[in-house]
Amino acid sequence: MKKILLVLLVVTVVVVAGGYFFVNHAYNHNYDAEFPVKEITIVADSAKIAHGKYLALGPAHCAHCHTTFENFEAVERGEEVPMHGGFDFELPFGHIYSSNISSDVETGIGGLSDGQFYRMLRHNIKGNGRVAIDFMPFFNMSEYDIECIIAYIRTLEPVKNEVPENDLNFMGKAILGLAIKPSMPKGTPPEFVKRDTTVEYGEYMAFSVANCYGCHTNRDLQTGEFIGEPYAGGFKFGPDATTQQWTFITPNLTPDEETGIMASWSEEQFIERMRGGRVHMASPMPWGPFSRLDDIDLKAVYRFLRTVKPVNNRIEKVVSPPEEG
Ligand code: HEC
Ligand code: HEC
Repeated sequence: MKKILLVLLVVTVVVVAGGYFFVNHAYNHNYDAEFPVKEITIVADSAKIAHGKYLALGPAHCAHCHTTFENFEAVERGEEVPMHGGFDFELPFGHIYSSNISSDVETGIGGLSDGQFYRMLRHNIKGNGRVAIDFMPFFNMSEYDIECIIAYIRTLEPVKNEVPENDLNFMGKAILGLAIKPSMPKGTPPEFVKRDTTVEYGEYMAFSVANCYGCHTNRDLQTGEFIGEPYAGGFKFGPDATTQQWTFITPNLTPDEETGIMASWSEEQFIERMRGGRVHMASPMPWGPFSRLDDIDLKAVYRFLRTVKPVNNRIEKVVSPPEEG
């Protein structure tokens, strides 16, 4: 009997220790060999920089995450704040800090080559070869838009700000090492998507640039895996420090007559609501940046959302204050 117990104990220790090393190894995996950095040079011109600025401060909302919390209201108002990173995302599996993407060489992305920057936006692999927690689903963005964004971000003044290393618990390392893989575009990413008030452009905005899809579709809270019908809502945020202890569940944006919140909204009403900005201070939706979308983009998004499959999914309570969360 004793012998069996001893064997069991040894086996458990070996399995646990093995798991521990395996997870740490997977977490530290460097993807440079599987995803070699391309040798590319992005040629910037004023048109590209202007379009990149529109995308970065509007639909793609880089500044919403790449600055510190005290600049949050300034970003909402549309001020150009330094994108020196350090925003602390408190998640169940640890603290993730947004990177410094100003052009400082030591602490920012001034030292990244165009190829490394491109690989980050296309495959979610950081300059150091590690996979990033997937906050940035830009993997299907057009080649042209990625070039424009890089061209604009490179114009940001260098700001020295050493962002702390991500602080993940064992669970976080396991998820990052085992569940989160580099992103792969669906098929061949488009060279260029024509900006127009079309359903096609609206889908491109909602899926590949503004991430309406990523927040308004239900996901597994541990792994981020998509488990709900597209745009039918149900993804939960908080309660945590980022939501100031409020709880938010994304509403259903599909045109379902009974449960889709905007089923009865006209295009004008939608545009008015998007321009109106945030109602809930702690909502994770980047209302400020989205309020600066121009008419073409907002019309396109509206027209696209009209074509999404209606899904009957009632979200009982979109917003709950701290004591009820
Ligand atoms: C929802 C929040 C969010 C948005 C929006 C966002 N980022 Fe990030 N970004 C992050 C976080 C968090 C990290 C760090 C991830 C990690 O360390 O695992 C990061 C990392 C990066 C990196 C990696 C830097 C390095 O060390 O290699 C680059 C480059 C970057 N972001 C650029 C951008 C650009 C450009 C945009 C807008 C087009 C953008 N990000 C939008 C949250 C965001
Ligand atoms: C980071 C997550 C996130 C992203 C990205 C996001 N949303 Fe939301 N959205 C939310 C949350 C949470 C709410 C509920 C709280 C609120 O109204 O602020 C919401 C609410 C809404 C509402 C309802 C507002 C109301 O007054 O009832 C609309 C409409 C909406 N989102 C449209 C969009 C569109 C269109 C996009 C893409 C352009 C988008 N959202 C991207 C999280 C997000």
